[in-house]
Amino acid sequence: MKWETTYYPTLDEMSRGAARFVYNLAREHIGRHGLFTLVLSGGKTPRALYEILAGPEFQNAMPWRGIHLFWGDERCVPPDDSESNYHMAFQAMISRAGIPPGNIHRIPAEIQPPEVAANSYAQVVRDFFVRVEGRGRNHARRGTTESIPSFDLILLGMGKDGHTASLFPGDDALDEDTSWVTAVHEPVGSPPVARITLTLPIINEGQDVLFMVSGSDKRNVLQTILDSPSKAAARYPAARVNPRGRLLLFHDCEILR
Ligand code: 6PG
Repeated sequence: MKWETTYYPTLDEMSRGAARFVYNLAREHIGRHGLFTLVLSGGKTPRALYEILAGPEFQNAMPWRGIHLFWGDERCVPPDDSESNYHMAFQAMISRAGIPPGNIHRIPAEIQPPEVAANSYAQVVRDFFVRVEGRGRNHARRGTTESIPSFDLILLGMGKDGHTASLFPGDDALDEDTSWVTAVHEPVGSPPVARITLTLPIINEGQDVLFMVSGSDKRNVLQTILDSPSKAAARYPAARVNPRGRLLLFHDCEILR
């Protein structure tokens, strides 16, 4: 899979570029089959993108009625916790844009134990795609066992250890090849709480993936991945992302391409 990289001098310019990209792709998918399934990423980087999508330039233009929001991962905290990825998206975008509540499919990561939360979210995803299957582009590929849903666009970030979503280096979750959603108990990430994450099978079933990576502390890992994705895959989870469609990277790192 070939990475398609776009450099932006600042995070703000990257976020504006990402907003235009998301807007155009949403309109394209909704124009074709009335639906756009968008997986949000967490952490700090995408906040500006979410604020722009709910801001004056895009708020009234975004076809929110046809956009369904999902999450790539979530910390096992209540949805109003400052560490919650849903909470960040709610503050930055959901509370400001007129998104129909039925279009918001958050990970119920407050459910304990985390395995129950993971299974519950997998059922949310399954029910949604069964409900919309057949609307235009095949939203689910006929696998040997069960169709794997194909999200239209999956936003991902990357940590300086090369993790993405809540798939951390060396974690068993990386080897999950059946479940679409899994629990991660001792993530090395911050905050040190259990997490729920989409797994590689469903991420790689995605039509398009857009990584947004910001910060010089990620430059070396990013360069290593771009230089040799197959070699880097042994060490960095982000290098194992290989979607059906485009693998896009928007970044502000001074890397050599
Ligand atoms: C999370 C994210 C995680 C994030 C990276 C980058 O729950 O933290 O899903 O994968 O995208 O850690 O985080 P920053 O954007 O804050 O650098």
